Amino acid sequence: MYVLGLQGSPRAKGNTNFLLDGMLHYLKEKGADTEKIQARRLRVEPCIGCGYCEEKGICVFADDDMAARIYTMLRRADAVILAGPVYFYNFPAHIKAVIDRTQALWSRKYRLDLEDPGRPWRKGLLLSVGATRGKNLFDGMKLTARYFFDAVGADYADSIVYHRIEAPGDLTHHPGVAEDIQSCAANLDSLLGRKKILFACRENACRSQMAAGFARYLAGGRIDALSAGSTPAPAVNPVMQEAMAEKGLDMAHLSPRSIDDVLSGIRPDMIVTMGCGEQCPYIAGVSYADWDLPDPAGQSMDVMRQVRDEIEHRVRQLMDNQDGSGSPLKENS
Ligand SMILES: Cc1cc2nc3c(=O)[nH]c(=O)nc-3n(C[C@H](O)[C@H](O)[C@H](O)COP(=O)(O)O)c2cc1C
Repeated sequence: MYVLGLQGSPRAKGNTNFLLDGMLHYLKEKGADTEKIQARRLRVEPCIGCGYCEEKGICVFADDDMAARIYTMLRRADAVILAGPVYFYNFPAHIKAVIDRTQALWSRKYRLDLEDPGRPWRKGLLLSVGATRGKNLFDGMKLTARYFFDAVGADYADSIVYHRIEAPGDLTHHPGVAEDIQSCAANLDSLLGRKKILFACRENACRSQMAAGFARYLAGGRIDALSAGSTPAPAVNPVMQEAMAEKGLDMAHLSPRSIDDVLSGIRPDMIVTMGCGEQCPYIAGVSYADWDLPDPAGQSMDVMRQVRDEIEHRVRQLMDNQDGSGSPLKENS
């Protein structure tokens, strides 16, 4: 399970950071692969409301950290933790710029009708602190978080918020923080226990991406579907993206990863190879399957569609078998 923590306070070592670190540390101990981003250190152009993403499905700003890595991380995440202090009843400017830029993902979903394969199971958690004691202090944070999680394809599962936290260090003396983290993190328990299947091909640009995309969409709540390549390409194949878009699945903002990189963080229960041959590592105790599929890279759209449909068929069968009951595949709620 990959957990992305977005630290939205300009104070790198303030209360929000303390709370987020506590949550990420706890999840890491439970086996999650965690990553923290300090929003203040990012180079993010603020959204200008130009409408480009509603038409094209991507943001007009192509050269900042959002384009380079944040969209990809959001798409990869099983859980997104949005953390920020209250600044004038909303998030501070750096993280608010990130939030606003996820409008491009909102556009893909609501204007272009594309379904993010991770959507059925990705979860969102909100962490926040504020100095005052008013009962409406976190209303703005919660509303913003709700809209943000919807845009990034996550279910807003829970939040931890603390009033009367002002100076750096205030939260370290607050009672009950460890217990609150534990109970909030329990929302992710079902994701932590999933069986891990790694789909591997040569470039991680077409076949293994499609297989993981279908597996995520169909059974991501009970299968942690990963993909990788023995020689990863610089980017995923645009024809593959188009072919998956025909099925309603949004494969944008994914990046090819190397098999070594993926295996450095997890030990899969199963590896499905589809063309990386002897370059796929053997791991004792892991079950293997080899799907003999042609490489559609550089071929026509028709070939890509044929390979896509064959992969969908095999993934459905595999998910049925993983289900153990032989029952038809259920889509995740
Ligand atoms: C510019 C600014 C605006 C703030 N606005 C509010 C506010 O509207 N309500 C509130 O209760 N606290 C407000 N605060 C206080 C912070 O929420 C509080 O100090 C918090 O603990 C900071 O968290 P951090 O240590 O993670 O940065 C504001 C602080 C700053 C610097």
